[in-house]
Amino acid sequence: DRNLKIAPSILSADFANFGAEIDAVEAQGADWIHVDVMDGHFVPNLTFGPPLVKAIRKHVRTVMDVHLMIAPVDPYIEAFADAGADVLTAHVEAGPHIHRTLQAIKGAGMKAGVALNPATPAEAVRHLLDLTDLVCVMTVNPGFGGQSFIHSQIDKVRQLREMIGDRPIHIEIDGGITPATAPLMREVGADVLVAGSAVFKGGSVDDPAPYGANIRAI
Ligand code: DX5
Ligand code: ZN
Repeated sequence: DRNLKIAPSILSADFANFGAEIDAVEAQGADWIHVDVMDGHFVPNLTFGPPLVKAIRKHVRTVMDVHLMIAPVDPYIEAFADAGADVLTAHVEAGPHIHRTLQAIKGAGMKAGVALNPATPAEAVRHLLDLTDLVCVMTVNPGFGGQSFIHSQIDKVRQLREMIGDRPIHIEIDGGITPATAPLMREVGADVLVAGSAVFKGGSVDDPAPYGANIRAI
């Protein structure tokens, strides 16, 4: 399926080697690079901010897909634009003014994504779709790699596919994607699959071939 994009999450890469990890996983067939920004407040984990995202930008030859798990979002939009994000995704749960946030992301020249936690219904994005380039459905509770896929989200993706129709809006799935769960998501209309642990397991920058095999297995 040529339209399906695999977006490895560098959350599961070697944090001391991001540049080389991105080079390796792109050479092995990654379509996008997914970058998880966590603030220890919106989610119970911390990763990194705009300076690191800017530093890795030159290694990303595909699409830099930045997933913000932070609140508030608006004070950081310019910094992520300056860091070179192609897609900037904010959570609908991150504040009362997600519509304004998406306007600001597009105003800063990026593609705008909106992410939904597992407990948030598809309906939450209906009145955002005219400002949205990507809807990210979380199939784990955000914060950590390597968690199990939450099957109740399949129906949500089906509803989103119907709501979006043929508008050019990506449906991205994030969390617990493996060769076993990926087909379930393709079937209901997802076109971007984020995968962290399932891509990076078994390989390294010195032995990147497993990354390619893992990507092809999804
Ligand atoms: C979770 C992150 C995901 C994570 C996915 O909060 O948003 O992008 O890296 O990791 P896996 O694929 O291991 O579930
Ligand atoms: Zn993510």
